[in-house]
This record gives sequence, structure tokens and C-alpha cells, in this order.
Amino acid sequence: KEAKLWGGRFEESVTEAVEKFTESISFDKALYKHDIKGSRAHASMLAHQVPILILHFLSGYIKFESLLRLNAGDCSIRNPFLGSSGLQSCPPNGSNLPTPFIGLISIEDRDKILQGLDEIERRIEAGEFVWRSDREDVHMNIEAALTDLIGEPAKKLHTARSRNDQVATDFRLWCRDAIDSIISSIKRFQMALVRLALKNEGLIVPGYTHLQRAQPVLLEHLLLAYVEQLERDAGRLTDCRARLNYSPLGACALAGTGLPIDRFMTSDALGFTAPLRNSIDAVSDRDFVLEFLSANSITAIHLSRLGEEWVLWASEEFGFLTPSDSVSTGSSIMPQKKNPDPMELVRGKSARVVGDLVTLLVLCKGLPHAYNRDLQEDTEPVFDSVKTITGMLEVSVEFAQNVTFNREKIQKSLPAGHLDATTVADYLVTKGVPFRTGHDIVGRAVALCVSKGCRLQDLTLNELKGISPVFDEDVYDYLGVENAVKKFISYGSTGSECVASQLDFWAAQLGID
Ligand code: ARG
Repeated sequence: KEAKLWGGRFEESVTEAVEKFTESISFDKALYKHDIKGSRAHASMLAHQVPILILHFLSGYIKFESLLRLNAGDCSIRNPFLGSSGLQSCPPNGSNLPTPFIGLISIEDRDKILQGLDEIERRIEAGEFVWRSDREDVHMNIEAALTDLIGEPAKKLHTARSRNDQVATDFRLWCRDAIDSIISSIKRFQMALVRLALKNEGLIVPGYTHLQRAQPVLLEHLLLAYVEQLERDAGRLTDCRARLNYSPLGACALAGTGLPIDRFMTSDALGFTAPLRNSIDAVSDRDFVLEFLSANSITAIHLSRLGEEWVLWASEEFGFLTPSDSVSTGSSIMPQKKNPDPMELVRGKSARVVGDLVTLLVLCKGLPHAYNRDLQEDTEPVFDSVKTITGMLEVSVEFAQNVTFNREKIQKSLPAGHLDATTVADYLVTKGVPFRTGHDIVGRAVALCVSKGCRLQDLTLNELKGISPVFDEDVYDYLGVENAVKKFISYGSTGSECVASQLDFWAAQLGID
């Protein structure tokens, strides 16, 4: 059995059950690219040759007298941190640098490490890499494989690093990429919705509140409502990305290090904004994950509502939309069935995304500072959330591209439900009637329609005047859904001009012509 990387103080090896229970390689190997990226930045930083004059003199480790000797190129000076095997000085070597330079590892070791990491990445991607559960996690698998590959120099890679800051770094990098990809998926869905709106310009549909017919709206207006929600979803992810983009690397186990590392250098190399200020915070917290999964959950809820709406609209009872066969499935027993399963599963899978967030919230709630092994349980829910939300968005795009709104059926349904009633109340306001009074008048007109089984526009002027003398011939300009929709003028309303300008805005915003 191979000795553990941490095996020095142990006399017995762990039981098989413990090994199996504690391993994470079965899932965290998905972090390999980001782990290698972090190791590259770390190795380069370790080898960064700092002018010894500045480093040692300013930190007070070296006396002025030794400084003069070093300055004269005497590399035999014992390094003040680790004895003869520590800091690696780099003599001017024919160059005309006035001062010897010094790093935590030599340039040669760095190059061996970087080449080794390249080879490991190549093997992983070629499927030649053997992931070993006895090597516990992705970090130790890669480090041990690097040692197998290049020997001694690999043992210097973990200088001034712990798996605690390493995993936090890997995971932030991974989440950053995942966020970028989800934002692109959101944009694609927004584009599909805008195209759908453009395809159905001018189509009036019943607007609902309490799932009861409320007021007429343009279908474009409804589709753009989804687009707005998705825009905020993307915005939340962008905010989350900005807040998570700080580097934990160099926080080490929890307390930082006594070795002269440069956290700003690794932070820059990895595209982070800056190193996290507090090393304990850096390895302890997963609030960036909570925020990320919260944002995903809200997106999932938006998609779920949309899914529910489209499932409902695809029913015989509504019949407002028909998905093409390519995005429908059938029944194993009922030969006639054609079901909108993709959108049902969009609704259904939102539960997983919310569940993933709840798992993470509960995971974190009782953890004392700093790192706790519990945190290893953060990985799978995040992977699941990302995979699920991505699938939900992608299938929603396809559904939107393959759905037809049934103009005729929708138009036939419009007379029901007195969708123009509120517009008539507004009409009375323009005639000087207080709104509450107008509301009551129109309510009585609706009651008359209900008893007669007709529409408001079918009432004669006499009948209307019988309810209120304020009604005049011009009321018929307000009656009927077409007229009613034309009357909306407020900013953000369903009025055609307003919706047209919103549609223009979104088409330009998303680069659609
Ligand atoms: N696999 C661990 C994780 O994902 C890495 C950190 C382990 N650290 C430790 N001290 N055991 O959290």
C-alpha cells in the first residue's frame, strides 16, 4: 500500500471503509483543470526571483554584512528560513544583474513542475490518467502523480500551500467558469424568447391574475416579461462572480505562512481581482457558493413558472400553444397522447436546484472556523445545480424554438372574461367619474352581460346609459380587446407602441435583427 502524502505521523493505515467514505476523487476530479491552473500559478510564484536585497534586508532576516556578501555573489549564505534546503538563490549567472535573486524554488524545478503538470493534464484529457481513490482527492492525485512523473521537484509544489486554500481556489475558479457559461445560456434563451415575440407580433392573449381572465395583453409583452426576469438572473450571477473573484491561494491551512510568498502575484495570474484579505475567511467560507446556488435557484424558479405556464397553455382546455413533435413525448399506454414533457421537467428539475441550495445552507450552518472536512460536501450539489440549470435553460431554448402559438384558438377565446372591463372604467375616469364609482358602474354592466350571456361591446348604448348616463357613443372605441389594448399608454404597459419599443430595445440588446 502506498504511503499517504500526510502519512508521516501515522502508524496504521486507514480502514477501507474510512477510505471509501472520505474520498472525493470520484467527483472532485472534475476540478482537475482548475487545480492544475492553480498549481501552475503557485509554482511560478514560488520560483519568482525576488531581489534578495529587498526581501531579506527589509524583513530584517539578514544583517547588513551578509547582504554585502550576497550582493557580491556569495551564494553560500545560509538562507534564514529553512536552512540549506530552502530558498533557492539564483546567481547572476553571466547576467549583469547587480544583485543575486532568490525564490522559494529554483527556476529549474519550476520548469520541471510546469512540464509535469502539462503532461498530467494531457494524460487526463486523453483518458490515460489513473485516478486513485487511495489518493483521496484531486489535489493529492495530481501531486502524487507529479511526483511519480518528475520526482523530487514535485515535492516542493506544496510549499506554502494547503489543500484548504487549494480547494477554495479551485472551486472559485470552477464556479467562475460555470457562471460565465450559465450567463451565455441565459442569453440564448432570451434571444429565443425575443425571436418568438417577433414572430408573433400583434397577437393579443388573455392576461391572467389568480389564473382568472384579467386584461388583454400582447403576447410579446408576456414573452418580454420572461426576458426581463432572465436579465436579472444573469445580473445576479454577474454580481456573484464579481464578489467571488478573490483569491484564497496562499491562505494555506488557515493562518497564512511564514514563507515569503506573493499572493498578489498568484491572484493576478489566476485572473482574480485581489487576494482575499483574511486567511481564516479565505479557507472557511463558502458564501460564494451559497450566493451562486441562490442565483441559480431564482433562475430555476423563473424557468419553472414559465414551464408551468406553457404546460398549461399546451392543454386541450387552453390550447394556446402547440409544441412540435420534436419537443414532445408520448405515452406508453395511451396512443393519442402528446405531452410537453420537457417543460414539465423544467418545472420538476427546479426542485433539485433549490434542493442543492438547501443542502449547502444546512451544510454550512454549524461549522466553526476555519476549514472543516464537511466542506468537501459542497462540491456535488454545486455540480448538480450547474448541470441542472444548464439543462433547463438549454431545453427551454429548444422548446421556444419549436412552439407555435395558435392564433385562431387564442383569438376565439378572447371575448370571454370581459377583458376590456378595466379599460371601460378608465373611460369613465376620462369623463370625470371618480374611479371607484366607475368601477361600480362597470361592475353592474358586467353583471348585466353575465345575465344576458353577452360581451360588454354587445350592450346597446341605451342599456349602458341605463346603468350610467355618462356613457356615450365613444365608449365603443374602448370596448373589445383590440380597442382595449390600444388604450394602454403608460410606461411599461402592454400598449402596442410601448411593447414595440421594448421589443426594439431587446432585439438591439441581444444583437437580433
Ligand atoms: N478534498 C478536500 C475538500 O474538498 C480537500 C481539502 C482537504 N483538507 C483537509 N485538511 N483534509 O474539501
